[in-house]
Order: sequence, then C-alpha cells, then structure tokens
Amino acid sequence: MQNIPFYQEAFVDYLQKFIKHREPESLYKPINYILELGGKRLRPVLTLLTAEIFDCDYKKALDAALSIEVFHNFSLIHDDIMDDAPLRRGQETVHEKWDINTGILSGDAMLIMAYQLFENYDTKTFHALAQLFSKTALEVCEGQQYDVDFETQDHVEIHEYLKMIEYKTAVLVGAAMKMGAIVAQASVEDQNSIYEFGKNLGIAFQLQDDFLDAFGDPKTFGKQVGGDIIENKKTYLFLKALELSNENDKLQLEHLYSLSPSDQMDKINSIKQIFIDSGANEATKQAIVNYTKKAMDVLDNLEVSDNKKEILKNFGSELMNRKV
Ligand code: IPE
Ligand code: IPE
Ligand code: MG
Ligand code: MG
Ligand code: MG
Repeated sequence: MQNIPFYQEAFVDYLQKFIKHREPESLYKPINYILELGGKRLRPVLTLLTAEIFDCDYKKALDAALSIEVFHNFSLIHDDIMDDAPLRRGQETVHEKWDINTGILSGDAMLIMAYQLFENYDTKTFHALAQLFSKTALEVCEGQQYDVDFETQDHVEIHEYLKMIEYKTAVLVGAAMKMGAIVAQASVEDQNSIYEFGKNLGIAFQLQDDFLDAFGDPKTFGKQVGGDIIENKKTYLFLKALELSNENDKLQLEHLYSLSPSDQMDKINSIKQIFIDSGANEATKQAIVNYTKKAMDVLDNLEVSDNKKEILKNFGSELMNRKV
C-alpha cells in the first residue's frame, strides 16, 4: 500500500498519456481542457486504493480509474450547462469558454471514451465493469433529473432529497470503489461492502458540496459561491431551514426562493443568514458526520486487515475537512 498522494500522482501521469491532440480540435480541445483542469481526483484514487486494499497491483486498475474520471468530467460539463454555472475548478466552464453545443457533443464523446476504456480488460472483467457502469450511469441521469425537477417542485421531502443525491453523486463513488474490487477479483460480499462504504461516503460528500456551495471561501472554492441559491436548488440546507425556521423566516425563505433578482448578492446573503439562524447549517454538518460514520460502520463486514480499514477510515475523516 502507498499513501494517497502517490495514487494521485500515478493517476495523473496515466491521464497525461491518455490525453492526445486529435481532430477535429473543436471536439477534443474541450475534452482535454476539462480533464487537465485538475480537481481532487477523488474517484480514480478510490479505485486504485481499493484495488490495493484487495491485494491487487493498482496498475491493473488504472483503466477503470480513468474511465470513472472521464465519466465524472463528462457529467460535470453537462451539469454546468444544466446549472448555468460560470466557473469550474477556478476556470471558465466548457460551455462558457466555447458554447453549449460544444459542451453537449464533447460530453457525449467522453461518455463513449469512458466505456471504451473497459476494452482493455479480459472478457469477464469487461462484462462486470460494463454492467456496473451502465447501471450507475443511468442512476446518475435519474439523480440529475430529480435535481432539476426539484428546482420548480413546490414541496420536497428530506428523504426525496437524500435519494436524489444518492443517485446523482453517491452511486458513482460507490462504483469507483467497487470497480477496484472487481479488478482485484475480490469476493462478491467484499465488492458489495466496499460499494456501500463508498455510497455512504458519497452522500456525505454531496451534503458537504451543498454546504460549501453556500459557505465556501470564494477565493479557494473554485465554483461560484451561492450558485445553488441562485438556481433555487432544494438542498439539505434549504430543506432543513424550512423545517427548523420560525414562521417568519420560513415565509421569507420561500419568498426569496421564488425570486430571480438581477443582483443576486442580497438574496444570497439573506438566505445564508436564515441557514445559520435556523440551525440548518449545524444540522447539515451533523448529517455529514453521520453519513461518514455510517460508511465506516460498513467496514466491519469487510474481510481485510484492520490497518487497511484504518486507511479507509482516515480517508473518510480527511474528506470531512475539505474546503474544495
Ligand atoms: C463535483 O465533484 C461534483 C459533485 C458530485 C459534487 P468533485 O468535488 O469531486 O469535483 P472535482 O473533480 O474535484 O473538481
Ligand atoms: C453534481 O451536483 C452531480 C453531477 C455532476 C452528476 P452539483 O451540481 O451539486 O455539482 P457541482 O456543485 O456543480 O460540482
Ligand atoms: Mg452543478
Ligand atoms: Mg447540478
Ligand atoms: Mg454542488
């Protein structure tokens, strides 16, 4: 086993070799742009790490890791179009730098490239990876559709929100880890346990993404702070604020979420104050801790040594301290 920066570096080296200057440039340049913009490389690192947890050389999992990262970046290009987002990783989003049609087609090509990477595995592994990938990718689409539907839906329940983030975000984190386990030929029980670990960590991860979207530092966050508020996203913060606020703030919050003012700063600041005053921001922090803990509890079922479990636990704890 190596440390996390080692897997990160090994992954980025492999990614660099994958990036080629192909034609037409207008299709491939945006692809290379988003892949080279950086990011935390969370999912591919988890794929490599999981392969090694199950005693397999991480190098065998590099194509699966790359597939997951290419898919993730495809989903970001389309997500930024859907969310009308100007910034990604501190730079212009693909549809802002080029245009929406470019974002659509370059994204489509990336989805195909992600599948293509499985061709580098033997038939049995290919089948298992492709099957998991197809199921996961469809769930991501379902989650994304719920996310958009909720923007204009009058009432959203917390459990509906949790299902939405499980689909749009968490299943991919689970799948990233399960792919590492598949490549390592781990037992089906272990594959499923590691999937559950990743999925719960993924739920905590998206809760925190929502939190940072409102309360992150604009200088370091890399995305437009307040973007979810501008888009009237029914996040955990919002739903908890509705639940916990006094009647006045609740009406005010609902009113603010029905507006799209030309100057968004006032709206963002008023809403953030309600998130704080209602205790919704503390409740969100607590939910992040709870889902991280739930992930860790799953590790009890895993047939690996305690020191490997410790590595996964530390990874989960460190994720909770992230600022981007
Ligand atoms: C952003 O994912 C999309 C979400 C599911 C919240 P990341 O926060 O992993 O994005 P990068 O790849 O590090 O930029
Ligand atoms: C993104 O959720 C989920 C997917 C990309 C599938 P968000 O819309 O919250 O992600 P960010 O905040 O733009 O990265
Ligand atoms: Mg978005
Ligand atoms: Mg979105
Ligand atoms: Mg977000």
